[in-house]
Amino acid sequence: MKTLRRVLSMAAHAVAFERAIVTGAGSGIGRATAAALCERGIEVYGVGRREGALRETATRIGGDKFHAVVADVATPEGRGAIADRLDGTTPTVVVHNAATTGPLGPLDTLTLDGFRATMASNVEGPLFLTKALMPKLARGSRVLHVSTGGAHQGFDGMLSYCASKAALRSVYESLRDEYAGRIIFGSAQPGVVATEMMRGLVEDTDDSFAIRDYFTGLSEATPAGGPTVGGPPPVDGLNSPENVARFFSFLLCDTNDDEFGERDWDIRDAAHHGRW
Ligand SMILES: NC(=O)c1ccc[n+]([C@@H]2O[C@H](COP(=O)([O-])OP(=O)(O)OC[C@H]3O[C@@H](n4cnc5c(N)ncnc54)[C@H](OP(=O)(O)O)[C@@H]3O)[C@@H](O)[C@H]2O)c1
Repeated sequence: MKTLRRVLSMAAHAVAFERAIVTGAGSGIGRATAAALCERGIEVYGVGRREGALRETATRIGGDKFHAVVADVATPEGRGAIADRLDGTTPTVVVHNAATTGPLGPLDTLTLDGFRATMASNVEGPLFLTKALMPKLARGSRVLHVSTGGAHQGFDGMLSYCASKAALRSVYESLRDEYAGRIIFGSAQPGVVATEMMRGLVEDTDDSFAIRDYFTGLSEATPAGGPTVGGPPPVDGLNSPENVARFFSFLLCDTNDDEFGERDWDIRDAAHHGRW
């Protein structure tokens, strides 16, 4: 049944998914997503600022499907370097995963530079990288925005991050409608995940960060080894990047165009758990 469903949904793809760009591929969800796509036989161009982290991703994946692209998505030069690196190749999947939490804490500690840097990585980065790639994308290509609960609701102490992700959600909705039937835009929330970003929220903050206790509690409740890959995300602990990657890989490769773009998917929604 699962195989039949996959064949039917693949038939709905307008284009073969042979080449992907995954930003933030040097750690966490981006690294795991790059690995999951390589496992499906897709060639992945993994983007990040730290060459060593990308090299580690390449080593863990093995083989010759992963290509490291050292670039900063927050700058025009970085986005230009990514587009140049792809010259002569046609990506058909883009995962805008790279992001920063930006400054954490109350308004009186927030600086204009800190806020702008967050918007540059989390909003300008994906938006203008999409624009730079547009001439190269084949009709039917898929672009996935990595979203979060903070895109729908502001959280005390995470103003810059939530504002940037809410803006990114709006970018997804606008481009989805503008490019309907040509380039397919999607968006997905990974839940709360054990990554470098999460470690920073717990270890690099102090009591002025309002929801630190919540993240600390989830981190401490997470069993060693994390949840089963392919299982529902845990309700009282952190999810694993590999489990999120399995969900993203399902969304990118096993849904049809209409369902891929229809909403900001949430990994916690039990309605789709049986499908991945
Ligand atoms: N962890 C969670 O609980 C959680 C929850 C909801 C949503 N998310 C989202 O999931 C995505 C991945 O986060 P993660 O948890 O896996 O965190 P992570 O391990 O910190 O990964 C973020 C990656 O993005 C890269 N990056 C950041 N800024 C960049 C830039 N300007 N240019 C290029 N690369 C950049 C970083 O590498 P370099 O520093 O080497 O560039 C890093 O590898 C993010 O969009 C995040 O908002 C995470």
